[in-house]
Order: sequence, then C-alpha cells, then structure tokens
Amino acid sequence: MTELAAKTMQASSVTLAQLMQPEHANNHGNVHGGWIMKLVDEAGALACMRHAQRRVVTVAVDSMSFRQPIRIGDLVTLTARVTYTGRTSMEAEVRVEAENPVSGEKTHTNTAYLVYVALDDNDNPVGVPPLLIETEEDQQSAEKARQRQSARLSRKD
Ligand SMILES: CC(C)(COP(=O)(O)OP(=O)(O)OC[C@H]1O[C@@H](n2cnc3c(N)ncnc32)[C@H](O)[C@@H]1OP(=O)(O)O)[C@@H](O)C(=O)NCCC(=O)NCCS
Repeated sequence: MTELAAKTMQASSVTLAQLMQPEHANNHGNVHGGWIMKLVDEAGALACMRHAQRRVVTVAVDSMSFRQPIRIGDLVTLTARVTYTGRTSMEAEVRVEAENPVSGEKTHTNTAYLVYVALDDNDNPVGVPPLLIETEEDQQSAEKARQRQSARLSRKD
C-alpha cells in the first residue's frame, strides 16, 4: 500500500465565522448550546476532510462545557485543526470564540475535541495521512491528543 504524505496541522486548519441570529437563541437571547455543537462538528469535520481529502463521519465527541453565554448579535468564530491521526481516525480540536462586534470584546467560550473516521467511496474506513510535526507546540498538542484518544479507546465498550 502506498504511504500517504504527512501533513502539518496548519495545512488543514480551518476557520468558520457565523453571526448569531434570533433563530439560534432562546427567548432570553442566549444561543442554544446545540447550535454551537453543530457548528463545532462542521468545523472539525472540515479540518479532517481537508487533512484526509476524503469524506468523514463523526465517531466520538468529548464532553463540552461552555464557560460564557453566547448572545444574539455575537460573531462566533470556530477554528479547527487536526491534532491526532491514527490509521483511519483523526482528532479535531475546535476552539470557539464569541465576539461582540460593537464593543470588540472577545470571549473564548470553549474548546472541543471530536474524532472522525475517513471513508472511501464504498463507505469503508480508509487510511489518512500522518501528521507532520514541525514545532514544539504542535508536538505538545499531538501528545495530549494521543493521550485523549488512548483514554477514549479504553472507555469504549
Ligand atoms: C465510524 C465507522 C465507519 C467506524 O467503523 P468500524 O467498523 O467501527 O471501524 P473501526 O472499528 O476500524 O474504527 C475506525 C477507527 O475509529 C476509531 N474509533 C472507533 N470508535 C471510536 C471511539 N469511540 N472513539 C475514538 N475513536 C474510535 C478506531 O480506533 C479506528 O481508528 P484507527 O483506524 O485510527 O485505528 C462506523 O462506526 C460508523 O459508520 N459509525 C457511524 C458514524 C456516524 O454516522 N456519525 C454521525 C454522523 S456523521
């Protein structure tokens, strides 16, 4: 089997931004956590698709906690990158920030971790390129991601 060329975390990193509208929120103007979770899943999947150049499915989502409310009118920015690769699986780290565009105040609301599996044209799991680690910071991120994946697999029934 041909070895796939390694790629850096930066090569597939992706940023999505969306203005929070009334349909994303409850009657008090707070954005639904489920809406943010959907955006997180989209951003993570996109980073993994760019990395693998394949379709992907979500296989695991780590628990998410929100430190601050996100309000109608906030600009939500999601930055996703691939922090771990196995044979067919990848972990995406997704950082969520909310910005009040009038005051300029930015809040880091949460960072989420999700695992995706790349699929071939017959919907079978398929190999993904390994990560090319170039910096000390990326090395530390990759090591933490490896530990998270190991913990997930040990919890799996
Ligand atoms: C994802 C899926 C294709 C995996 O198929 P499978 O036959 O179970 O394949 P495997 O057991 O070989 O697992 C594939 C990879 O996922 C990893 N994986 C499986 N379950 C996992 C979990 N709970 N947490 C983390 N990784 C997991 C495996 O370790 C393996 O990684 P590796 O190839 O890098 O070693 C299959 O489970 C599926 O279709 N699930 C539904 C996905 C879905 O519909 N998601 C929601 C909508 S996108």
